[in-house]
Amino acid sequence: MSPRRFEHILRVSGTAQEIAKNLGCSLEKVRLAALGHDLARQWDGSKYIQYLEARGFSIRYEFRERPILLHGPVAAQILKEEYRIHDEDILEAVQHHTLGKPGMGLVGRILYVADYVEPGRKYIDQGFYQQILAESSIHGMVLGVIEHARSRGKTVSGQALDMEQEARNAYTDSTKTQVSYETQAI
Ligand SMILES: [Fe+2]
Ligand SMILES: [Fe+2]
Repeated sequence: MSPRRFEHILRVSGTAQEIAKNLGCSLEKVRLAALGHDLARQWDGSKYIQYLEARGFSIRYEFRERPILLHGPVAAQILKEEYRIHDEDILEAVQHHTLGKPGMGLVGRILYVADYVEPGRKYIDQGFYQQILAESSIHGMVLGVIEHARSRGKTVSGQALDMEQEARNAYTDSTKTQVSYETQAI
C-alpha cells in the first residue's frame, strides 16, 4: 500500500472517530471499518472480479464496466475471511463505502461521510469540514456530503440518491419532532 493511501486511511479513521464521538456511535467499530475500507483499493480491476467470482458471487453489469467499484465488497470479504471480523455493521460499512446504501446503519453512514470529508481531500476546505462535523445528526451530514459532490459535478449513484432521500425524510421528521416538543413545552 502506498504511503499516500495509508495516510488517507488514517485520516478517514480519525475523522470517523471524531464523528462517532459526537453522535454516540462505537469508536471501535468505526475505527475498524475505516482501517479496512480501502485495503484492496490498489488491486487491478480484473482481480476484483476474479476474487468475487471464485467465491460464487455474480457480478452485475455496472460493476464489470467499472470494477474499481468492487474494492469495497472485496475488502469486506477479506475482513471476514482473513481478519475474522464478523460484525455486520463493520462489514456493511466497508462493503458500501463508495456508493452508499439506503437503510445502511450508523457505522456505514459515518464511514461514507468521513471518506468524503477527510481533510486530505483536495476538494475539502476547512470550512466545509467544520460545517459537516458540527452537524448534530448523521442525516444532515449525509445531505451535506451528497450536495457537495453534486455541486462539484460528480454523478451521484442511485444508492446515494436513495440514501439522500432517506436522510431528507429523517431530517425533516427530526425537525418536526423538535418543533412539536417545543410547542408542548410552551
Ligand atoms: Fe474506497
Ligand atoms: Fe477511502
